[in-house]
This record gives sequence, C-alpha cells and structure tokens, in this order.
Amino acid sequence: MNQKLRLGVNIDHVATIRNARGGIHPDPVRAAKIVASVGGDGITAHLREDRRHIRDADIERIMDATDLPLNLEMAATDEMLDIALRHKPHAACIVPEKREERTTEGGLDAAGQHNNLMPFISKLRDANIRVSLFIEAEPRQIEAAIHLQAPVVEFHTGRYAHFGFDGDAKGVESELKRISDAAALAAKNGIEAHAGHGLTFENVQPIAAITQLAELNIGHYLIGEAIFLGLEESVRKMRSLMDAAR
Ligand code: PXP
Repeated sequence: MNQKLRLGVNIDHVATIRNARGGIHPDPVRAAKIVASVGGDGITAHLREDRRHIRDADIERIMDATDLPLNLEMAATDEMLDIALRHKPHAACIVPEKREERTTEGGLDAAGQHNNLMPFISKLRDANIRVSLFIEAEPRQIEAAIHLQAPVVEFHTGRYAHFGFDGDAKGVESELKRISDAAALAAKNGIEAHAGHGLTFENVQPIAAITQLAELNIGHYLIGEAIFLGLEESVRKMRSLMDAAR
C-alpha cells in the first residue's frame, strides 16, 4: 500500500499581504488554523533574514495556535540557529538564502558547505529538531545529506515547475526522472524525502505519484488560489489531487 503523502502548507504569503499594509490583517495564524481544520498535515514558514513575510513574533503564535507540526525554513546562520533553538519547532528546513532573490531560487549546496553545516545540524539534532536539507535532486547532494546525518531532504521542484510553465515536455520528463531517482536513492539510505517549490493544481500529480516522497510543501500557489476559492477549498483541492495521484 502507498504511504500517505503529507501536505505541508507554506503560509508565508499570507504574511506578505499583511506586511504590505504594515498592520495585522490578514493574520497567518488564522490561515494556520484553517489549514489544520481542512486536513493539512503541517505548517511551513520561512523566517527570512529581511523578515519580508513571517516575522519573529509569528513563530510562537503559529506554534500555539494549532497542533500541526511547524516546519521552520531558515538559512544556516547563527541568528536563525538561536531562534530555532529557542522555539524548538518540529522541523527546521535549511535553505540557501540570497537577500535579493524573490524566492528560494535553488537548492542548498550541502556538498560544498559540508563543514559549515555539520556543527549547525548537530546543534539542531541535539535539540530534537528534525533537520531537513532543501537540495537539488542530485546524488552528490544526497551523499552529503547522508554524511551530515540529516534525517530528511526536500527536493527543489522549481526546475520541474518552470519547464512545465514553458511548455517544455522533455524538460518536465527529465526533471521528473531526476526527482524520482533522487527520492529512491534517499529512501534507500533511510532518508525521508520531501519535495516542494512551484507546485500547482496542474503540475502536482506527477510529483505526488512518486511513492518514495513522504511530504510536499506548497505555498505561493495555494495562497494565490485562496483569493479565488477561499483557503479551505484551495487546500482541500490540493489534498484531493495528491490523494488521487497515489
Ligand atoms: N519548500 C521550501 C523549502 C521553500 O523554500 C518553499 C518556498 O518558500 C516552498 C517549499 C514552497 O514553494 P512555493 O511557495 O513555490 O509553493
């Protein structure tokens, strides 16, 4: 039987809209509660260095508001390490971060930054925070995750999504194979495989059909669709597309 595929909903962009006016509405905590009420399996939030969406005070409020596990995305900096150790979210997903980028544009170079990441990851592990590395679906990055004893990797699906937006069927096929091979390699080595970035109602199913994937983290599209469908329906529809693909 297929393992159930978890859906983590990234609520960053509720905070982006809130911050556009500098007030308190719309509140990402309200979004987290709705996600919990319609069968989302987790909340994902990225505390960026520039705090462009989720802010420090949101973390505690989100963790208090629901029983869903929080997957805190963060760069491998001392500041973020302190924050993670203070709040102890269920998981910390280490992402590369460039101040000028619009969103996380590529995977973490876990292989190249191995020595810097090792002490960082062991401190999170000692605090019982589940470490996930947001990487490209490449064997050398998975090897690095094995050496770093990361229990989870999340594969960046941005290239897959972009080939689809460009109508490049060959590109989509080759990315799917790359992600599927990487998920199999991770699973063979006892690492839980997640995926996310740029996933939509149109492109989620081939990714959801990769049986070695345990979780998808989806944000921008779900929050965008919530404008038209409402957040409940947006999450429900994604959930049912994922279930139908398994
Ligand atoms: N997973 C990670 C690690 C991310 O950084 C992001 C974007 O913040 C996502 C998933 C969600 O991507 P999207 O907002 O494109 O669905």
